[in-house]
Amino acid sequence: MNMQKDLFEDKSKSWDMNAKRVQNAKGIADLIVKNIYLSKTMEIMDFGAGTGLLSYFVSPFVQKIVAVDNSPSMLEAFEKKSSEFASQTEIIQKDLSTQTLDRKFDGIISSMTLHHIEDIKALFQKFYDMLDTNGFIAIADLDSEDGSFHSDNTGVYHYGFKRDALEQIAKEIGFKNIHFELANHISKPQQDFSVFLMTGVK
Ligand SMILES: C[S@@+](CC[C@H](N)C(=O)[O-])C[C@H]1O[C@@H](n2cnc3c(N)ncnc32)[C@H](O)[C@@H]1O
Repeated sequence: MNMQKDLFEDKSKSWDMNAKRVQNAKGIADLIVKNIYLSKTMEIMDFGAGTGLLSYFVSPFVQKIVAVDNSPSMLEAFEKKSSEFASQTEIIQKDLSTQTLDRKFDGIISSMTLHHIEDIKALFQKFYDMLDTNGFIAIADLDSEDGSFHSDNTGVYHYGFKRDALEQIAKEIGFKNIHFELANHISKPQQDFSVFLMTGVK
């Protein structure tokens, strides 16, 4: 039995009510669609899919989205909406920092989840192993910040990322064509934060 605490239980029901979150996911999805060749034959994993904000906006362009997340409450919210997706969906509850997933995908997308993972190199290795030849990653997260983005930093292992450090890790694993682009600005009362999209190919 998995006794790990669901860190998103309190947030899951109102997650989609935050317009900035929805706009951020839409902006990331638009950039993914612009930068990456997607087709209706592709099976894509959304890592840390949560309630499915990113999945929803990418779903018209792929055959299937496999939502992987370790939060039962976030996945419950995903499941409730899944009939509204333009693609097939599948939900897998898994903690990819401690477990592996024996599946292959055409691509892996992710939004605002990387900072919750302590060992990025181990995660990138799992991504690499889960991709078909020429499979892609498209990962969005915060640029380096001062720790003020979240009001509570429980479960936050990185205050954003330095792009060149992430690029180095991805290269060491074997990813090619690594590219960064600004996806969004998120304005908060304390300051503005920027979100990058990192793409790469196996
Ligand atoms: C900030 S939310 C982002 C959700 C969604 N991608 C979005 O943009 O709205 C981070 C998500 O990552 C999930 N997560 C955190 N650590 C994880 C892990 N080790 N394995 C799988 N999912 C994880 C959380 O449960 C949560 O749903």
